[in-house]
Amino acid sequence: MNKINNLFKNKINQQTPIWFLRQAGRHIPEYYSIRSRAKNFIDFCLNEELIVESTKLPLKYYNLDAAIVFSDILMIPWAMNRNVKFTKNVGPTMDPMLPNESKIVKNINIPLLLKPLENSIKILRRDLPPSICLIGFSGAPWTLACYMIEGQSSKDFINTRKAIWGSNIWFQELIETLVIYITDKLEMQAKAGADVLMIFDSWSHMIPNNFFKDLAIDPIAKIIHLLRSRNINIPVIGFPFKSGGSLIKYSYESNVDCVALDWTVNLSWALESINPSIAIQGNLDPASLIPKHNPFLRENVESILKKMKDRKFIFNVGHGLTPESRIDSVKQVIEIIKEFEI
Ligand code: CP3
Repeated sequence: MNKINNLFKNKINQQTPIWFLRQAGRHIPEYYSIRSRAKNFIDFCLNEELIVESTKLPLKYYNLDAAIVFSDILMIPWAMNRNVKFTKNVGPTMDPMLPNESKIVKNINIPLLLKPLENSIKILRRDLPPSICLIGFSGAPWTLACYMIEGQSSKDFINTRKAIWGSNIWFQELIETLVIYITDKLEMQAKAGADVLMIFDSWSHMIPNNFFKDLAIDPIAKIIHLLRSRNINIPVIGFPFKSGGSLIKYSYESNVDCVALDWTVNLSWALESINPSIAIQGNLDPASLIPKHNPFLRENVESILKKMKDRKFIFNVGHGLTPESRIDSVKQVIEIIKEFEI
């Protein structure tokens, strides 16, 4: 059994489990040579050999407790035929959906379209030691809808927000369809051998406050309810990025087993406010791993550990590692944590 699943089973007296969001990406030099073996990023995410290799890559460098399967949240819009492309220096793009006009494709067979992901998880679960927790993931309905309506990233997701108010029936249909596809994708990953699931709501801070429950909490609760009804009982980590005070309601009502906190969250506040029966993951600022010398790093990591010592806690960054992150700094953080706990 791995430390992360043990934590959810209330096994005490163990060291803090550690992994890093976006640990498999561009801050590791070999990532680029793996990526160059695929024609484009979508092909990369559909190639078993490359998925397996890139998922294992960070484990060569770091003493981690988890591997997150290499894929992308935008593989669902890709499966929905939105013409998803990842362009260098531009980021992801796709055909924007026009609220009320664009047809929402139903009855797509996600497990079939993402078969290489399923096969990769089977291989990874067989190859990796049992002490490594294998994490499967998906984007949240709201975040996927944001990309699908805008067709790209955006500073304010104004077209998506406009759709909530002006095209609500169509918009709800999109959210409900995504709930099903996301559940199918998570179920497939769990059945293939994932030990934990994570749902990324990277743009939850764009939701108008009075819709937060409808769009960031209820769809997650629905996904988890559907998973449980399909006999998928592994822990789910939710990541409502930069949701501030709404984290309280999220922690009580979304049914997640763990809430991942971004780097802006004050941990003392979180300890007082967030549902005490769920675990917490987070929340080191990934930017603190960029400078060559960061005199605050040790103090900061130790302060997180001190605050979280009596809590079910998974150490992580408060958002993905950036390409500029220093391998030495990531190693140093892991060292600090191990030393702290001797
Ligand atoms: O270690 C890992 O976490 C790898 C698996 C992973 C990727 N994307 C690979 C990837 C995961 C968990 C994701 C999640 C993801 N993808 C999110 C949620 C987390 C977050 O950052 O908020 C989001 C919003 C996306 C959408 C996405 N994919 C964007 C906006 C981009 C381009 C900009 C960026 O941040 O890199 C991607 C491309 C992408 N996905 C890369 C990787 C390694 C970089 C592709 C490349 O240039 O080689």
